[in-house]
Amino acid sequence: MESSFGLLLVLLTLTIIHIVQAQDQQGFISLDCGLPPNETSPYKENRTGLLFSSDATFIQSGKTGRVQANQERKFLKPYRTLRYFPEGIRNCYNLSVFKERKYLIRAYFLYGNYDGQNTAPVFDLYLGPNLWAKIDLQDENGTWEEILHIPTSNSLQICLVKTGMATPLISSLVIRPMRTGRYTTESGSLKTYKRFYFNKSGSGLLYSKDVYDRIWMPRFEDEWTQISTALRVYNKNGYDPPDDALKNAATPTNASAPLTIEWVSENLDDQYYFYAHYAEIQDLQANDTREFNFLLNGQKLYMPSPEVPKKLRLTTFEGMSPITCNGWECNLQLIRTKRSTLPPLLNALEVYTVIQFPQLETDESDVVAMKNISASYGLSRINWQGDPCFPEQLRWDALDCSNTNISTPPRITSLNLSSSRLNGTIATAIQSLTQLETLDLSNNNLTGGVPEFLGKMKSLSVINLSGNNLNGSIPQALRKKRLKLYLEGNPRLIKRPKEKIPVAIVASVPVAIVASVVIVVIFLVLRKRKSTIVQGIPLPPRTSTENDSSFANKKSKRFTYSEVVQMTNDFQRVLGKGGFGMVYHGTVKGSEQVAVKVSQLSTQGYKQFKAEVDLLLRVHHTNLVSLVGYCHEGNHLALIYEFLPNGDLKQHLSGKGGKSIINWSTRLRIALEAALGLEYLHIGCTPPMVHRDVKTANILLDENFKAKLADFGLSRSFQVKGEPYDSTLVAGTPGYLDPEYYRTGRLAEKSDVYSFGIVLLEMITNQPVINQTSENAHITQRVGVEINGANNILEIMDPKLCKDYDIKSASRALDLAMSCADSSSSKRPSISEVIQVLKECILCENSRIRNNRGLESEDMNVDLDSSETLMAR
Ligand SMILES: *[C@@H]1O[C@H](CO)[C@@H](O)[C@H](O)[C@H]1NC(C)=O
Ligand SMILES: *[C@@H]1O[C@H](CO)[C@@H](O)[C@H](O)[C@H]1NC(C)=O
Ligand SMILES: *[C@@H]1O[C@H](CO)[C@@H](O)[C@H](O)[C@H]1NC(C)=O
Ligand SMILES: *[C@@H]1O[C@H](CO)[C@@H](O)[C@H](O)[C@H]1NC(C)=O
Ligand SMILES: *[C@@H]1O[C@H](CO)[C@@H](O)[C@H](O)[C@H]1NC(C)=O
Ligand SMILES: *[C@@H]1O[C@H](CO)[C@@H](O)[C@H](O)[C@H]1NC(C)=O
Ligand SMILES: *[C@@H]1O[C@H](CO)[C@@H](O)[C@H](O)[C@H]1NC(C)=O
Ligand SMILES: *[C@@H]1O[C@H](CO)[C@@H](O)[C@H](O)[C@H]1NC(C)=O
Ligand SMILES: *[C@@H]1O[C@H](CO)[C@@H](O)[C@H](O)[C@H]1NC(C)=O
Ligand SMILES: *[C@@H]1O[C@H](CO)[C@@H](O)[C@H](O)[C@H]1NC(C)=O
Repeated sequence: MESSFGLLLVLLTLTIIHIVQAQDQQGFISLDCGLPPNETSPYKENRTGLLFSSDATFIQSGKTGRVQANQERKFLKPYRTLRYFPEGIRNCYNLSVFKERKYLIRAYFLYGNYDGQNTAPVFDLYLGPNLWAKIDLQDENGTWEEILHIPTSNSLQICLVKTGMATPLISSLVIRPMRTGRYTTESGSLKTYKRFYFNKSGSGLLYSKDVYDRIWMPRFEDEWTQISTALRVYNKNGYDPPDDALKNAATPTNASAPLTIEWVSENLDDQYYFYAHYAEIQDLQANDTREFNFLLNGQKLYMPSPEVPKKLRLTTFEGMSPITCNGWECNLQLIRTKRSTLPPLLNALEVYTVIQFPQLETDESDVVAMKNISASYGLSRINWQGDPCFPEQLRWDALDCSNTNISTPPRITSLNLSSSRLNGTIATAIQSLTQLETLDLSNNNLTGGVPEFLGKMKSLSVINLSGNNLNGSIPQALRKKRLKLYLEGNPRLIKRPKEKIPVAIVASVPVAIVASVVIVVIFLVLRKRKSTIVQGIPLPPRTSTENDSSFANKKSKRFTYSEVVQMTNDFQRVLGKGGFGMVYHGTVKGSEQVAVKVSQLSTQGYKQFKAEVDLLLRVHHTNLVSLVGYCHEGNHLALIYEFLPNGDLKQHLSGKGGKSIINWSTRLRIALEAALGLEYLHIGCTPPMVHRDVKTANILLDENFKAKLADFGLSRSFQVKGEPYDSTLVAGTPGYLDPEYYRTGRLAEKSDVYSFGIVLLEMITNQPVINQTSENAHITQRVGVEINGANNILEIMDPKLCKDYDIKSASRALDLAMSCADSSSSKRPSISEVIQVLKECILCENSRIRNNRGLESEDMNVDLDSSETLMAR
């Protein structure tokens, strides 16, 4: 990493000193690891004004050290001391954070020959159960690691793990809360690779110049020219790079050449995200334009329109999906468009690599229970740090964990604390280990009774309490269960009279897990056939660990997985691929046709599934696809919809799959019906919703070609007016995605109007939304050029319509489509206004049909009064 050396010097050494006024450091955690107890904590670091504290309360193990005296002056105070870990394989910091919030996490490591051995250590750094980085301290100036990460629980475990003989160490650890909805990834977290601002001279920009404590290094190339401004560039777009980073920019000296930034990939399959920050900082003449596109390894990156820097206002280009390089070579270029009179410009650039943390942390309630058990018995085992279950080679001794599915949190299934000198009573926290199958507390000095809760733990099948000092009697709940219970060697335990307790009690009645439904079933079966062997009744489906309550009122429409298999005839006929999984044809109640969308449980899939079920429970409209039922059983998720035999609008427009090319009057009616569905979402339901994925493939057609909107997996409520940003991930389909929403992340109903405009353009022109081979890749650009080129409407319209339409209605619809697809949301009509115009188009077209064919041919005519509309006019 070529930038790391320079960056490190800035971090560690006292290059500039300036007094910093007090700044909000809310949520910041700044640890000076190994700060001795006789030194003031917290203290203010002179260069940045950051308040550093001792790490002593965040970790229970390790010893404190200090870099060799002759090196001390080379480094800033937080890096002079360190904590090292001679004992244990894994030693962890436990930091309190907010789940689902984004953080910048940075760790520094500086050996400084603290131990006089002159041997720099090598070890691993873990984030919870996942490897974060391999640390090699050969460099005399140390090293650092930085990521942008969203914790999956409210505590963050940062662990140093021995890989050989060397003793791990750490010098400083900092955590900064970031704004959510920025630096979003499709999956994984981001590892900082480069962060530059473009200036010929200058030094690292740090906190408090950077509000998030990111570090920006200057960079400049010979073939560039620097432009500067003394004015402040408005930088509040959520990325908020420092003011000083935006006062200067690089442009290529040869104005027609691209601005090129190159780097070499460390690994061939590394994936990158980059964030390019730019603002117009020159005074432009009236006849000047500056527009450019981004190219990666010579390929144009798709954007709805070329980039146009705004005057003294920051724009950030952010990739929606990760990019990979061409072998080892990565080449990012900004290239001006033909009509641009000025070269491209860039003020600052950030490049990150994607880092995956695939292993989920152990279920949080299991971890809390283990902490409580450990504290209750005063157990202090050096290896009981970090995640209890993973990585597997560092699993806490005494435990076994379920290891079935990487996308569900591991659960503790076995606890073996035999011969551990436990005294006192059996800890009640054990009952929180709800997936526990085996419990061994044998050969301790436990006293008190055998607790009743052991009998209520659904999964528990082996309990060994032998060799203790327990008293009292055995609770009824334990006698009933089908479990192995070992109790010998507890002289004070009262055995029930007449009933001789065997070494193992093995009861044959099924477990109490059974949900009420199944209890009823058992009850009915028992009543009907008294002698039935109850063990043959299958257990109810295992429910997911996710909170199921939101589905509770949906019970009547819930299907089991085997019913889903049956209704789809073992997933025989594929209908297509939806937002979160495959869609199959199915039949319920013998005849009713359904479409079954199936997904495996993954975090993303589950979220979309839940969003869709929640939405469909609330909304009912004739132009929205309705839900017949759903299935949520273990990892199986399925949504069962009404089946629409005529497929989707996209197929009909393309004529693919044997679908017809539909005529103009039908197209207008379909557009109107889709708009009515959207209007219902926008103003008819509470809270209002945005669909977020309006496209021709999501407009389905029933047997009468009535249109219904589908795929609500991305839908959500939009925020109240006045709130600056929506913090959710920008999502949608390229080409249909509102460029304003894409840039600002601000979610509003006008984003659906934009997508609807694209749908209309497709229906009018039958051109592809994105055509990479055309200079004007996006449909709005192509149609815009045709309109400005004063092309006849007949040349713009889909030739497959064979000029069989009313010209007035066609041009009215085209104007409507273009205003819907305006890049500025304020210029777009509301969906209700769209509906009004579409109705007028339909009236024109209807009167033409009447004139042409006489009043009989009403079949394809639209009866406006029968279309439900929400607006009273
Ligand atoms: C802290 O104690 C160490 C010795 O234990 C001593 O060398 C050091 O000077 C002390 N620091 C302060 C600030 O008193
Ligand atoms: C910070 O500056 C003050 C005076 O400016 C000085 O006394 C103090 O030693 C400095 N602290 C560090 C950690 O350099
Ligand atoms: C980490 O700290 C939080 C509170 O700061 C605590 O609730 C949690 O139990 C701790 N976790 C571990 C594994 O020590
Ligand atoms: C470490 O930093 C010093 C400046 O503080 C520099 O002179 C030296 O070359 C650096 N060493 C390495 C190995 O980069
Ligand atoms: C950028 O460079 C100019 C001179 O080229 C210099 O005056 C300015 O201080 C630099 N900016 C920063 C933030 O270092
Ligand atoms: C400027 O760049 C263009 C395009 O890359 C190139 O064709 C031209 O030769 C360059 N001119 C000079 C003087 O380098
Ligand atoms: C723009 O106008 C200025 C005079 O106002 C002129 O000097 C310049 O050459 C023009 N530039 C272009 C690209 O036409
Ligand atoms: C364990 O949890 C129980 C409640 O479940 C609580 O009363 C007890 O104080 C906890 N013990 C420890 C050591 O945290
Ligand atoms: C139980 O406690 C007694 C003394 O109270 C001790 O002698 C014995 O070793 C203990 N047993 C175990 C298994 O720790
Ligand atoms: C358990 O034993 C320790 C000493 O071995 C003693 O301090 C503690 O009080 C005992 N706890 C109980 C609940 O008896």
